[in-house]
Amino acid sequence: MSNILVIRSSANGAASVSNTLVDAYLAALPEGTTVVDRNLDTHPIPHVTQQSLAGIGRQAPEGGAFAEARVLQDELIAEVFAADTIVIGLPLYNFGLPSTLKAWFDYVLRAGTTFQYSAEGPEGLVKGKKAIIAHARAGKYEDVNGFPFAVPHVKAMLGFAGVTDVTVVTAEGLAFGPEVAAEAVKTASETIAALAR
Ligand SMILES: Cc1cc2nc3c(=O)[nH]c(=O)nc-3n(C[C@H](O)[C@H](O)[C@H](O)COP(=O)(O)O)c2cc1C
Repeated sequence: MSNILVIRSSANGAASVSNTLVDAYLAALPEGTTVVDRNLDTHPIPHVTQQSLAGIGRQAPEGGAFAEARVLQDELIAEVFAADTIVIGLPLYNFGLPSTLKAWFDYVLRAGTTFQYSAEGPEGLVKGKKAIIAHARAGKYEDVNGFPFAVPHVKAMLGFAGVTDVTVVTAEGLAFGPEVAAEAVKTASETIAALAR
């Protein structure tokens, strides 16, 4: 039996293609799989501010005025460590990732917990996990030199935490007309569902 952590970041709700791909994956999972489904659109993580940073940093004191941010951060990190596979719904927003998803990473990447620095440099502490990125974008891109930035950025953050086994499934050309969009969603849905079996 495995544990899946889903992180959704589309602001498109039921019309979202990345959510559709995530749902195709979930529908194909074997019975008995445990799923934690976190929707950053309906339940956004607050941006890091001067106030919350004092609570979520490595040296943060227990309790006090920053306890709320710390409690949320501990919960998010616990979900990551409990997962065998992290499935991220990733729309392309202005050539990058949605800010809701960036806020999640800003909470989850905590020095001393999900990564650490040593004399050899940074080391990810989230080991032995897989990630699947369900990526949706209106345009079509060649993906050269790190452009557009969403997938390379998300992969870099996952890798920094130690998650290097990452599979990307992309539905693109979604603004190229209904036929192109439908074919892209169908193909990507089949591809991601196959990963669940
Ligand atoms: C704020 C915003 C910015 C976007 N920027 C881009 C972009 O830079 N390139 C692109 O191809 N599509 C862009 N799109 C289109 C989305 O990537 C596309 O609608 C995709 O389906 C979003 O994923 P979703 O369906 O899961 O919400 C943007 C959409 C929004 C709402």
